Amino acid sequence: MDFEPSDLIRSLGGPEAVSRMDHEARADALEDYQTQLLNAAVAARAGGKTFPTVKEYEDLVDKRGYRRGVGRLFTFNYDSKVANPDVTGLTVPRLQKMPAKPTLVDFFRLRLEPGHISAHLLQSAKLAKDRGEPEEIVLACLLHDAAQVLMKADHGYWGAQLIEPYVSERVAFAIRYHQALRFFPDPSVGYEYPKSYFQTFGIDYEPLPHVVADYKYARNHRWYMDARLVTVNDFYAFDPNVVVSIDEFVDIIGRNFKQPKEGLGYDNSPVAHMWRTISMPDQPL
Ligand SMILES: [Fe+2]
Ligand SMILES: [Fe+2]
Repeated sequence: MDFEPSDLIRSLGGPEAVSRMDHEARADALEDYQTQLLNAAVAARAGGKTFPTVKEYEDLVDKRGYRRGVGRLFTFNYDSKVANPDVTGLTVPRLQKMPAKPTLVDFFRLRLEPGHISAHLLQSAKLAKDRGEPEEIVLACLLHDAAQVLMKADHGYWGAQLIEPYVSERVAFAIRYHQALRFFPDPSVGYEYPKSYFQTFGIDYEPLPHVVADYKYARNHRWYMDARLVTVNDFYAFDPNVVVSIDEFVDIIGRNFKQPKEGLGYDNSPVAHMWRTISMPDQPL
């Protein structure tokens, strides 16, 4: 962030006061000053609302009893819009037993809903369906954040892997790369950097190198628009007043998701253990 050095020196008590500071104190003062300026600029831009910085989030890491990347089934339902929420007394829900041969629809009802992710997925899929997108895109929207019950960190990659044996390559591609594409605008489809990310990641957040690299890769891929459409339908899919049922997608799932006859988690696929972990997250080992 640009600023006048003389303003900084004045704010610290003048040149004489600065000359008495050691190197580390000066570096800290510089960082604090830049943070203040940034916060002021953002507040002005956001009509008075201030957003956390990356450093503020980093400072909170060892002040919480959970990590922000933990899967939704494995911790209480905290609000990621509050930098340091009061979680006193919050608990995880008791889960219903899964059927012996669970289907994707069973997972929606019995694990994604208590994991607070199904409403977002259903709304996202409904938007894509109402816009007349192909069934593969609707399915990708329906499943794009499903892995967040297991792991929020790098959820696009976990999510693609989770469903890869059961869907077309395009569906897995769209889910894998939606995560990277979320950080990069595409005016051709009206997609902007989400304002909610100022809050979630910090106002001065820079996407990680692997995310930048995967964005560049996906941008030049022939299936780019598949992943992009997931982000386009993702952006608006947070309306608490819209209730969508999984029943609406049972046919699309039937045509595009190869449900294993043994049940998800019991088909010996390379990802069966991931489904079992979602089924039984209370297992100690
Ligand atoms: Fe996502
Ligand atoms: Fe999403």
